[in-house]
Amino acid sequence: VDADGTRTFELTAQEGTTQFVEGVDTPTWGFDGDLLGPTLRANRGEQVAVTVRNELPEPTSVHWHGMHLPAAMDGGPHQEVAPGATWRPTWQVDQPAATLWYHPHPHGRTEEHVYRGLAGFFLLDDPQARDVGLPHTYGVDDVPVVVQDRNLERDGTLDLEGGELGVLGSLVTANGVRGAHLPVTTQRVRLRLLNGSTARTYAFGLADDREVLQVATDGGLLPAPVPTTRVQLSPGERAEVVVTMTPGETVRLRSFRPELGRIAAGFAMGAQDEFDVLELRAAAELAPSPQVAPALTTLAPLSADDATVTRSFDLQNREINGLRMDMGRVDETVQVGATEVWEVRNLDAFPHNFHVHDVQFRVADIDGAPPPPALAGAKDTIYLEPRRTYRLVMRFEDHADPDVPYMFHCHLLLHEDEGLMGQFVVV
Ligand code: C2O
Ligand code: CU
Repeated sequence: VDADGTRTFELTAQEGTTQFVEGVDTPTWGFDGDLLGPTLRANRGEQVAVTVRNELPEPTSVHWHGMHLPAAMDGGPHQEVAPGATWRPTWQVDQPAATLWYHPHPHGRTEEHVYRGLAGFFLLDDPQARDVGLPHTYGVDDVPVVVQDRNLERDGTLDLEGGELGVLGSLVTANGVRGAHLPVTTQRVRLRLLNGSTARTYAFGLADDREVLQVATDGGLLPAPVPTTRVQLSPGERAEVVVTMTPGETVRLRSFRPELGRIAAGFAMGAQDEFDVLELRAAAELAPSPQVAPALTTLAPLSADDATVTRSFDLQNREINGLRMDMGRVDETVQVGATEVWEVRNLDAFPHNFHVHDVQFRVADIDGAPPPPALAGAKDTIYLEPRRTYRLVMRFEDHADPDVPYMFHCHLLLHEDEGLMGQFVVV
């Protein structure tokens, strides 16, 4: 924190080397290191300033995924940073505590930049929020876990060749480590799960099928903990879960077969794939943890009944409403202060998802039915089963700027790069 109270960070995108497989050097990219990036953390109400340096041989950008902020600070394709150049975004954190993340968003090149390793967590805290018994000691009982998949060529370099969805890798890592384990020293541990993959959807659960408590979605805490055995996340989505451990035990966090909906050729879309992700190893003695409170937060009211505008977004192949992304075209113009319903449909027989910059939306309904409890919180990204209608309600509070657009897109990053993206301005 500098003299005027601004929380400052520096991030340098650079080339590096990672051994995903022992003894095999894989060229990767990272922020301030060989792979991934440091966890950034700020409080609600704080002014944040980041110095982003690009030491890569090509332009990149850094997008603050899930953050409510002015479009000019958003880090999308309109804020690319040339090789050797520096970008200095600044904004005030104005949203509830949440597990957000940052990653590159250069025009047409996002998949490769994320796949090479550029991504990190951005955690938001709210000092005013009441204590609801969630573990909160970073790295001890409160642990961010980014899950990614890759394929390697025989020579150890990254295999960039994918199919309809992009790359579905068989080398699955937690925080960049294959076969990772976490020493657990407390009765309960909170995992902040991020699907940082470019294409794959995971259905996380514990190998012995015990229940965990899901306590948060993309944009912050759920109203109440949701006991569950599966937490499914498509690319870009986050969830926080609290796991209760017994002394001395070992339990594996796995990804089970995801429920992708009525897709064709499921085996080619990862529908049959299962992976071990992380082994939780409890110490012989565990320090006591508080009970998770039965009520976690009160969500700000956001109802489809208050919407004054309804927009439709049909995703098909690489187009939204029949159009591919065009940097020079603004697709939607939103009035500042408006509450809107966005009706989103996947017209293909394969997976897509949908991410909206700047806002956290609520799922009003899916094919007219209320969302399941695990989707009843603040979201910025949602999986789209084929041929269902997702009605998302969102409010565009402030940050009007007629000149700089925000993005909405499929977060399967190959699809995004190939045009499944559009732009909106808030005026
Ligand atoms: Cu996480 Cu427009 O992206
Ligand atoms: Cu897609």
